[in-house]
Amino acid sequence: MAVLTFLWEHCSNYRFFSFIKVVIVVPSLYLLIRAVYRIFLHPLRAFPGPKLRAISHIPHAIAGTKGRAAFDVRDLHARYGEVVRIAPDLLSFMTPSFWQDIHGHAAAKKFPKYGYFKARGDAQPLLTADEKDYPRQRAALMQGFSERAIAGQESTLKRHIDLFMKRLEENSERIDMSQWFQWLTFDLIGEFALSNHPWVAILVRWFRAVSFATNANEFGMLAPVLMLFTDIKDLMGIKIHQENAAAAVKKRLEMEDDPNRNDIWSYILRRKHENPLSLGEMEINAAALLIAATSPVADTLSGAIYFLSRNPKLTLSSTSKMPYLHAVMNETMRCYTPTPGGGRRQAPPGGATVSGHYVPGGTVVAVYQLPAFTLPNNFALPDCYLPERWLPIDHPDSPKATLTDEQEVFQPFSVGPKACIGKGYAYAEIKLILARVVWHFDFELLDNGFAVEKQRAFLFRERPPLNVKLSVRQH
Ligand code: HEM
Repeated sequence: MAVLTFLWEHCSNYRFFSFIKVVIVVPSLYLLIRAVYRIFLHPLRAFPGPKLRAISHIPHAIAGTKGRAAFDVRDLHARYGEVVRIAPDLLSFMTPSFWQDIHGHAAAKKFPKYGYFKARGDAQPLLTADEKDYPRQRAALMQGFSERAIAGQESTLKRHIDLFMKRLEENSERIDMSQWFQWLTFDLIGEFALSNHPWVAILVRWFRAVSFATNANEFGMLAPVLMLFTDIKDLMGIKIHQENAAAAVKKRLEMEDDPNRNDIWSYILRRKHENPLSLGEMEINAAALLIAATSPVADTLSGAIYFLSRNPKLTLSSTSKMPYLHAVMNETMRCYTPTPGGGRRQAPPGGATVSGHYVPGGTVVAVYQLPAFTLPNNFALPDCYLPERWLPIDHPDSPKATLTDEQEVFQPFSVGPKACIGKGYAYAEIKLILARVVWHFDFELLDNGFAVEKQRAFLFRERPPLNVKLSVRQH
């Protein structure tokens, strides 16, 4: 009996130690060897960056889930220069030539999109469509974004903006402009009533969930486990948003064709016998457009009001004049870029040269807009809100100090064949709203809750309230 007990204890200890070996020692050894490889032997070893980031994707993922990834990348560029290895296989550039080298017409085919979260299995929106479906989808949607189509939206824009201005006057004592811009831009793209806003609140949850999932995907097989840590309400946000969008598309499809209606869908429906988009693609593109056309535009409008209110030397009436208005928009998007991160792309198998650097095949590359637009490498007086830097150089107000600005790096809508399809619409919409608002009202910031530097960003900005008091201007 005693012998049996001894053997059992011995064996179970042996089993226990084997278990420990398998569960702890083997993975630790693997991680150690991988860390050594990634620092000393990896093809990206020569690119500067912190060792911890060369070893693991975890620091970048943590920053991403906290909404601080772009801010951290900015600090890394400030320390390490124009190209930084921000994760084992991920390089961030802040060079002007990056745009053409990666996104330009010649390059875009060679550098596929990387790591975009696919919220639906059976149909993709334009942003995440694969190479087979992308050209058909882009061609189908492009018609709705042509100059003619945008001009056709004018009466819709005017109707919503008129109502918006009325609401501002009614609530002028204290109004959260950030929220109201979100509602307005949502209504403009969706043609929904100003009184129906619970859906808009879901968008914030959508950003967080998609941002979390994108970061989790970097960990391969562990991704489903990591997803257990997402806030379930955020995940539901994706589902509810898609269901709402599908229901709205259904309602739209049931409408009679009206030759005077010029929304994006009318161009697609008039060609429906050619099947330009499947029903699933219409639903998921509607969901994507409601996001893409709302937040960045509301960010820019909120940012403009914030910066203008803090810079009393900028008279609001001069701001509403061209070309000053354009300069205000650009400077707002420079100081408060709506898409602070960067669309990631993957280098082709044979590698490629990007901004003079050889990048091995498979490397993921991106321009993080926040560092590229706000570090002194590219812009003089980067922390000053200085719309005049965007005026033509022969304009009497064009400052000498900013003549060295690398304006080419400023591409808030990206460039090339996959650049923002809504750029023309966004400029038209922002200019119209901004001109109306700054022409009609004086603003007084009621608190500093909007402080830009403290904000978080998940794909787009997570804007806090922008509380202002409005008074109607006496012209
Ligand atoms: C200030 C406003 C806006 C900014 C800064 C902005 C920025 C961008 C950027 C940087 C991309 C490229 C993303 C990537 O390659 O990963 C993009 C794509 C896109 N944007 Fe915008 N956008 C704005 C407004 C709009 C509006 C108003 C719409 C629609 C009405 C829109 C619809 C889209 C769509 C559908 C794509 C995907 C294009 C494609 O992959 O072919 N955006 N946007």
